[in-house]
Amino acid sequence: MKPISLIQFLIEERRAGRINAELSLLIEVVARACKRIAVAINKGALGGVLGNAGSDNVQGEAQKKLDVISNEILLEANAWGGHLAACASEEMEDPQPIPDMYPKGHHLLLFDPLDGSSNIDVNISVGTIFSVLRSPDGVEEPKAEHFLQPGTTQLAAGYVVYGPATLLVLTFGHGTHEFTLDREVGSFVLSRRNLRIPEETAEFAINMSNQRHWEAPMQRYIGELLAGQDGPRGKDFNMRWVASMVADVHRILSRGGVFFYPLDAKLKAKAQTGKLRLMYEANPMAFIVEQAGGSASTGRARILDLEPTALHQRVPVFLGSKNEVAMAVRYHAEADGAQG
Ligand code: AHG
Repeated sequence: MKPISLIQFLIEERRAGRINAELSLLIEVVARACKRIAVAINKGALGGVLGNAGSDNVQGEAQKKLDVISNEILLEANAWGGHLAACASEEMEDPQPIPDMYPKGHHLLLFDPLDGSSNIDVNISVGTIFSVLRSPDGVEEPKAEHFLQPGTTQLAAGYVVYGPATLLVLTFGHGTHEFTLDREVGSFVLSRRNLRIPEETAEFAINMSNQRHWEAPMQRYIGELLAGQDGPRGKDFNMRWVASMVADVHRILSRGGVFFYPLDAKLKAKAQTGKLRLMYEANPMAFIVEQAGGSASTGRARILDLEPTALHQRVPVFLGSKNEVAMAVRYHAEADGAQG
């Protein structure tokens, strides 16, 4: 079969009436920026891009040089095309307006420019995650409050995983599709259409080192998986944890599984409501996973239904194979019910 490039796929989506020309351009621009990020990552030590930038981001985390480079590449690429009203980045406190000299579009772009960046210096997969919202009508210069729309209103979401191959995974709400970067040609090519996450799985992803800090229902759920064949689940479970959400989610989209970053006492002690960010990580990944037949929850609510309260809000994340997410959610409901 003749390969289908991302550009051709976008044209077909436009013809089918699923996206407009501005959204198509936006995705093209993001994909092009991600190709530049891939080039920077691939240079590694030879490009002088490894190590810390010597600055902290808005979350108080030490920025890697590649965090800063990736953020700048995405900002610069998206400034002048006329497809955006503003963008917001996990790395920046406030939204970035479109410079006055350029035309403004009707979309808001949110991104985590380099997710899993602690993995860069050890040559493990990292990624870019993005989410697209409609800019509210009549708003000239969108502020943080205009980005605070529930995940159900996302027009598009995607991620690029910079791994052994560079892959783009994308949804417009009509299935989740995977594109592989053909480095010789320099374009993304459709490699899998309509990814499906099996409802059942025997593989989970969680940072086990936090086990003693978890809430009781999480202890119960994971405890039962660990008990394997001899426990109440009657089967053995395998565990994987890359510590790059893009890589863990991509594995789940490829062969099933379930991913957890629950709330725990360690996070609570820092007055945090979760580890992962709703607007830059949880919402886009929830959209992608649901469109592939999976589920995404905080353990107590569907992620896409949350009404955001702050641009950098953090939430617990449970996502992947439907039946496992449902069981973990049930254990939380039971524990909350028992507490009255
Ligand atoms: P960062 O981008 O700051 O490296 O965070 C990565 C995120 C996510 O990608 C991953 O699943 C999780 O944090 C890993 O957290 P732990 O290091 O606590 O396991």
